[in-house]
Amino acid sequence: MRAVVVGSGGREHALAHVLSRTAEVVVTPGNAGIPWSVAAPPEDLEADLFVIGPEAPLVEGLADRLRRQGKRVFGPGADGARLEGSKAWMKEVLVSAGVPTARHGTFSEPEPALAFLESLPGLYVVKTDGLAAGKGVVVTESLAEARETVRGYLSGEAFGDAGRTVVIEEGLSGPELSVLAICDGRTAVALEPAQDFKRVGDGDRGPNTGGMGAYSPVPVAGPGMVSTVMERAIEPTVAALRGRGIDYRGVLYAGLMLTAEGPKVLEYNVRFGDPETQVVLPRLRSDLATLLAEAADGSLRSIPESDDGAAVTVVCAAEGYPSAPRLGDPISGIDEANAIEGVTVFAAGVRADVGGLVTAGGRVLSVTGQGPNLASARARAYEAVSKVRWRGMHHRTDIAERAANEEIDR
Ligand code: AMP
Ligand code: GLY
Repeated sequence: MRAVVVGSGGREHALAHVLSRTAEVVVTPGNAGIPWSVAAPPEDLEADLFVIGPEAPLVEGLADRLRRQGKRVFGPGADGARLEGSKAWMKEVLVSAGVPTARHGTFSEPEPALAFLESLPGLYVVKTDGLAAGKGVVVTESLAEARETVRGYLSGEAFGDAGRTVVIEEGLSGPELSVLAICDGRTAVALEPAQDFKRVGDGDRGPNTGGMGAYSPVPVAGPGMVSTVMERAIEPTVAALRGRGIDYRGVLYAGLMLTAEGPKVLEYNVRFGDPETQVVLPRLRSDLATLLAEAADGSLRSIPESDDGAAVTVVCAAEGYPSAPRLGDPISGIDEANAIEGVTVFAAGVRADVGGLVTAGGRVLSVTGQGPNLASARARAYEAVSKVRWRGMHHRTDIAERAANEEIDR
């Protein structure tokens, strides 16, 4: 099989890496650190399967355009991608499908928005309706900060049109879980769950980012959690989409909070998670190309199976990320890191320069370690991270730390 992966980050590198076990792979546009990269529009390429990585092209209808050309595409059309393109619409679908989620209101005018904020019990969550690269969510205990955020979003100052409608919701608490399900329009199968680290700093401090690291499996999720999420969230959502005439073929990624009342959906994404993909896919034993092709055909038959081990990925970011990453710094140590047993370095914000790779984005590399358990996977990932260098590089030092300790206690 020949597969085209659309996108240019660590997630697309991981998709290509795992697809290449059984398929001939091309990544467009890819990046200088992804070996299969070609600079050609996906519309001009021929392949047996197209896998679209990021949300933006899905939201603007790339899957529809490719399908109209007769191509076999894994990724929802613009209709289904609206789940991620509009948090207000996503909430409406969740509520109509009876999926547990945080209490919320949707607003385009300041007065009712501020009044709703004041009715909430004390942890305030403000989200842009539209896409904001994972950075449009503010969670705060300060009513003043929440009010300021609402004003900045609604005025268009903070995120342009993406923020002119806001979703305000009650703050939930509990561990977070990412469940990525492969859907064929009618049925869905789950991949192994993962946990992502959204805040830039150790101990979950600092602003939200696209994700600073991830690990899988997730001991706190316990046996049965994935089936619960499939039954209470994913399956009713696929059915609700179908009821609205939406044939959803792609990843439905539920970002959940495991609250005292059970799992609640914080958000849906319509694509593989980044960096969750860098831990979930390397653990997959089943043939990814076949699985995605079946889903794209609307006829899932395979049940994904994963190894009994663990994977941990640590994102190495450029100085200044997430606000204003400094670019152009020469990167060293990738080969040394890759030489460590169980380690794969996925390239994200990089480009080629005369002397080799240099930084070209906020999240530069995603360094994955695999091993028989979380502690060993984590040790390998961090040993590999210690080999990589550029000026101002930063990363979290506590990815999977608690989970590795919990694993030992069990
Ligand atoms: P989202 O993009 O909606 O997943 O939000 C990004 C992050 O903000 C989540 O991963 C959570 O850490 C946090 N968050 C979102 N919604 C809530 C909520 N209702 N309560 C507490 N934290 C939240
Ligand atoms: N890791 C969070 C995301 O992919 O949106």
